[in-house]
Amino acid sequence: MTPLSGVVSGLVADAFESAGLARDYGSTLPSNRPDLGQFQCNGAMAAAKKAGRNPRDLAAELVEKLEKQPIFSQVSIAGPGFINISLTDDFIAKHLAGLADDPRCGMPGPSEAMRVILDYGGPNVAKPMHVGHLRATIIGDCLRRIADFVGHDTKSDVHLGDWGLPMGMLINELELTRADLPYFDPASSGPYPSESPVTLEDLEALYPKAAAACKADPARLEAARQATAELQAGRPGYRALWQHFVDISIASMRREFDALGVHFDLYKGEADVHDLIEPMIADFKAKGIAEESSGALIVRVALPGDKKEIPPLILLKSDGSVMYGTTDLATIVDRVQSFHPELSLYIVDQRQHLHFEQVFRAAKLSGIDEGGALEHIGFGTMNGPDGKPFKTRAGGVMRLHDLIEMAHGQALTRLSEAGLAKDFDEEEKNVIARKVGIAAIKFADLSNERLTNYIFDLERFTQFEGRTGPYLQYTAVRIKSLLAKAEERGEHPGALLPPVDEERDLELLLAGFPDTVALAWGKREPHHLCDYAFRLAQAFSRFYQYCHILSDPNAELRASRLALAALTHRVLSQLLDLLGIEVPARM
Ligand code: ARG
Repeated sequence: MTPLSGVVSGLVADAFESAGLARDYGSTLPSNRPDLGQFQCNGAMAAAKKAGRNPRDLAAELVEKLEKQPIFSQVSIAGPGFINISLTDDFIAKHLAGLADDPRCGMPGPSEAMRVILDYGGPNVAKPMHVGHLRATIIGDCLRRIADFVGHDTKSDVHLGDWGLPMGMLINELELTRADLPYFDPASSGPYPSESPVTLEDLEALYPKAAAACKADPARLEAARQATAELQAGRPGYRALWQHFVDISIASMRREFDALGVHFDLYKGEADVHDLIEPMIADFKAKGIAEESSGALIVRVALPGDKKEIPPLILLKSDGSVMYGTTDLATIVDRVQSFHPELSLYIVDQRQHLHFEQVFRAAKLSGIDEGGALEHIGFGTMNGPDGKPFKTRAGGVMRLHDLIEMAHGQALTRLSEAGLAKDFDEEEKNVIARKVGIAAIKFADLSNERLTNYIFDLERFTQFEGRTGPYLQYTAVRIKSLLAKAEERGEHPGALLPPVDEERDLELLLAGFPDTVALAWGKREPHHLCDYAFRLAQAFSRFYQYCHILSDPNAELRASRLALAALTHRVLSQLLDLLGIEVPARM
């Protein structure tokens, strides 16, 4: 169905057209000055400038036309030529009745469905996932949910870090302590044991040890480089060992992602595109965009108008090993071959912006992207109370797993403080606390503009009041229990009657759901959904406070208000689903 803003825009566009001006100027949105009108059109100023007319005169002419529309209750001019419009209550009720019947809560299908790749999560093999990966995971998963809902054809890829120097460090570290393992015999080409020689715990201990050794000793670093180059070149023992590392890591990552309710279509990694690298480099060379420079192979990506220096992208180092940018480019080739994406979103820390700028430029230069759009969706850091990237008390990297456990613990405390879930058994309480803890983390992360840094404050995030995930969950549960109570009494949602003030506010907000989703998707900014969800919950509270629902003596009014509560519940549930937040059955 057409969103309410679209209906109004259409009529305003008609008015512009009949004044001999382009329809585009008629674009009208929910007003941020509801005291002046429910909707606002700013097009008269630009249209007047184009036509060489006085903007207020033009606005007055348009207002005269618009006042003839029977669905508008009020049309007025403000300032230099803003047009404010309000709708009749009858029309609002009629539109809402259509919304209540629409399974997509008023969201129209996309004008053009695109094939979209979303690259997020990005954990690295053998390293525990940390809070940086948390942001990539939460924002990426939310954008994927939004894109799916809008109607695009999406594919999500975790893009494991599994082909760089850390792999050589691990191999070298293990070789020093367990030289007897068959993987290290240069004369052997397998077969190798199917059982891994190391556990996840071993692996997680091995990496920091190897990294410290490489930092302290240049010879160790050189050996790790050598092992990386041999792994990439296909040394069978190294490949077999590496496969164990990857399998163990993926199994552990899946557990974390499951806990977060996040899913990936593809568990591909940097290594998966290894065989595409050689032909890709040949193609780059043939096109004359790869050149040698002090033994390395590079692509110059700087452009004449650059404000800051963009260094060349390194395709191959002098020892022949490939770089992060090389695998990212070959991944573009892979995705184009298998999916032909029209849009690729890379949800990765903003500190990697330069890397993506280089990769995208090299992709465009070579044409390997086949014209698909490539966007880096950056985000800021999650900081501790000291304003620095979040660490454990001991100063180490905070593991994702530990963070989720902390949130769970805090959610249990909050539930008991708020007197919620108190009569439920321990198991149910735990399930609820898990959902509340995750909701707290996700909402806090998504409710900021992506690029801002924020301070991790579990105390605040888990509160059942204010702008939090738990508050929204609680609101959804409350509305649901109201609806269930009505059902028990044999009361059903019915036809919507023209609204009183609190109802009208809520209804206009509900009608704005499709605009909000379109805005969040267009800007790739989930926080618009969070703002909107919070405003919706507050508008519902006011409605609930001032309008009797079950206790009103008038049966038609009860049925109308129940219908409004039911629609609010549906829109709020849809929003929470888009944010990746699960609502407990009860609390
Ligand atoms: N593994 C990388 C990291 O931990 C993130 C990968 C992001 N995706 C990509 N296509 N480069 O920093």
